[in-house]
Amino acid sequence: MAFRDLCAVPGAAASWALPQDFTCVFNWEFAPERNRLLGLYERGKTMQWNANDRIDWAQDLDLENPLQLPVGALPINAAPCYQRLPAREQMEIRRQHQAWSTSQFLHGEQGALICASKIVQQVPDMDAKFYAATQVMDEARHVEVYKKLLEKFGVTYPMTPPLRSLLEQVLRDSRWDMTYLGMQIVIEGLALAAFARIRDEAQNPLAAAVNAYVMEDEARHVAFGRLSLRDYYPQLTRAERDEREEFLVEACELMRDRFDAMELWQHLGLPVEECVEHLHVSGASAAFRTRLFTRIVPAVKDIGLWGERVQRGFERLGVLEFASVDIEALQENDLAAARDFDARQRYVRAVAAAAE
Ligand SMILES: [Fe+2]
Ligand SMILES: [Fe+2]
Repeated sequence: MAFRDLCAVPGAAASWALPQDFTCVFNWEFAPERNRLLGLYERGKTMQWNANDRIDWAQDLDLENPLQLPVGALPINAAPCYQRLPAREQMEIRRQHQAWSTSQFLHGEQGALICASKIVQQVPDMDAKFYAATQVMDEARHVEVYKKLLEKFGVTYPMTPPLRSLLEQVLRDSRWDMTYLGMQIVIEGLALAAFARIRDEAQNPLAAAVNAYVMEDEARHVAFGRLSLRDYYPQLTRAERDEREEFLVEACELMRDRFDAMELWQHLGLPVEECVEHLHVSGASAAFRTRLFTRIVPAVKDIGLWGERVQRGFERLGVLEFASVDIEALQENDLAAARDFDARQRYVRAVAAAAE
């Protein structure tokens, strides 16, 4: 069946054409180059991988609980409207929710692919263009792996409206740093927290490995955003920084709302208001919503957008405490986790070869 035919929403668009209006910059100077950025470019080149070799695509998903996540991972698991349903229907809702969230990963990755290629054109410095070019390849690979994973669900969902609205804003903005801010800091920062949950909690080895390997690349992408913006933001005026801070807080709110999955509950015939209210009050879901910001908050502090607006906004979201998270340590952990998956895979292959 064609990928398009897997879409759960009849009549969903097959493409999205977004007009662009920005200046692309050639650079003949090639200097001054920033060593840390060039170091990242070196790593971007040497750490390329082929999804067909590194991942065993013969593995399948469990149809009852494709990612094999704990039951509590479904955000409405404890909601009365869900608890009342017969077991079969509960199972189906769980499957649909996992397909919906994996679809959002896929759409976010295509957004990242487009944004990274926009950065190549827009950003004034050559070292940043070099690095962004490696990210374009990374993001293409991420689209490839989530598409393959999603095919195994047998069902897909269109892009959620909040993600679409943020992508549109970021892509229509003609200033290069806004693409970084929206994509490398907000969308990727939140995605990393969501991927980490699958990597660490999913018992399905295929889904866990896909997320671990994508995270290995994403750790570089967030570092790229931080290194580029950290140099740039001190050069802006207070008013220009305020504008970025305002955008940042709005983008964070928008992206948190995307996890409310309103359109999904509606599509599944569940009472939307009750579901969303449950997400806000139930302990487990509220904790997950907060945890989504573990990576964004320290990155924002690091790039120097740490004025009153941002701090007040994060306080409202209840996530200010993450300012002290050691982001470099998290990134080291992402790299180590991917190596662990490689080791496990080598072991499985060795055992299989010995048995033959
Ligand atoms: Fe990505
Ligand atoms: Fe990325």
